[in-house]
Amino acid sequence: MIVATTRAELQAARGSLPGPVVLVPTMGALHDGHRALLRRARELAGQTGTVVVSIFVNPLQFGPGEDLDRYPRTLEEDLKSCAAEGAGLVFAPGVREMYPDGQLVTVDPGPAGEILEGAFRPGFFRGVLTVVLKLFSLARPDIAVFGQKDAQQLTLVRRMIRDFALGIRIEAVPIVRAADGLALSSRNKYLSSSERAVAPVLHNALAAGAAAAGGGPRAVLDGAHQVLDAAGGQLTLDYLALVEAGSYGPVRDDALSVRGDGPPAPPGGQASPGLFTGTAILAVAARIGATRLIDNVIIGFGAEDDAADD
Ligand code: PAF
Repeated sequence: MIVATTRAELQAARGSLPGPVVLVPTMGALHDGHRALLRRARELAGQTGTVVVSIFVNPLQFGPGEDLDRYPRTLEEDLKSCAAEGAGLVFAPGVREMYPDGQLVTVDPGPAGEILEGAFRPGFFRGVLTVVLKLFSLARPDIAVFGQKDAQQLTLVRRMIRDFALGIRIEAVPIVRAADGLALSSRNKYLSSSERAVAPVLHNALAAGAAAAGGGPRAVLDGAHQVLDAAGGQLTLDYLALVEAGSYGPVRDDALSVRGDGPPAPPGGQASPGLFTGTAILAVAARIGATRLIDNVIIGFGAEDDAADD
C-alpha cells in the first residue's frame, strides 16, 4: 500500500494505478462504518482496480467553536485498517499541502446546502464540497464511495457531480450501527457513559417514525417526535425533518396535511390521504451533552415502496 502525504507523491503514483480507481474520502479515525465503505470500494474496484483512501481533517468544514482541534486523529491505526481492507493508496496530506495558498475559490452548495445541517453549521457544506472537489481533481477517481449517514452531504455531492459534469459515479453505503442502534461516528468517542446510554434514542425515534410510514408523512414525524419528547431534557434537538431523498427539499406541505391542518375535504368526499409518494429521508440532529449527533433513515411512501431502510 502506497502512503502519499504530498500532492506530488499522489500525482506520481496516480498514473500507474490500475483502474477502476475507487476513492473513499474520509477524515480518518476510521471505525467499522468506514470499514464498510472500504469493503464496498474494494468490491467496486474488482480484482484489478485500486482503492484510494484520503485521510484529511478538513479545517474548511469546521466552524468557529467546533471540534477541529480535538477531532480524533489516529493515522497509524487508520493505515492498518486501510491495508487490512485492501486499499492500494492512502493520501494523507497536511493542511498546508491541501491549501498551500489558502482557498479563495470555494464551491457554493446552493439552496440545499443552506438548510438543516447547513443552517446549524454555516459554511459546513461549502467546506465539504470544496475539499471533495479538490480530492476528486487530485485523485481522479472513476467511482467515489460515501456513507448514507451523512445523507445531506451525499445529496449535495451528487448534485455537484451533475452540475459540474464531473462524470464520477457515486456509491452510497448504508449506515452501520452499534447493537443498540446508535449510528457509528467518530464523534461517539466524545460521549460519556451516561450520554452514550441516551444516544440510541435518535435511532429509536427514526425507527418509530419509519414504522408509522403507512399513516403518511405527518404520522412519521409525529411518531419520531413522541420518542424524542419522551427523552425530555436528556438531549437538545436541533432538527427532525422529513425531506425528499433526491433534492433534500422538504416533503410537500400538502402531504403533511394528511392529518389535521390540511385543505378542506372535497364535497361528498375525504381529503386524499398520503399524497406524497416516493423516497424520503427522515433526518435528525441533536446534542447530547456537548456532542452533536446526526442520523437518518430512508422511508418509501407509496404502494410499491413503503419499506424502511437505512
Ligand atoms: O464525511 C466526511 O468524513 C467528510 O465530510 C469528507 C467527505 C471526508 C470531506 O472532508
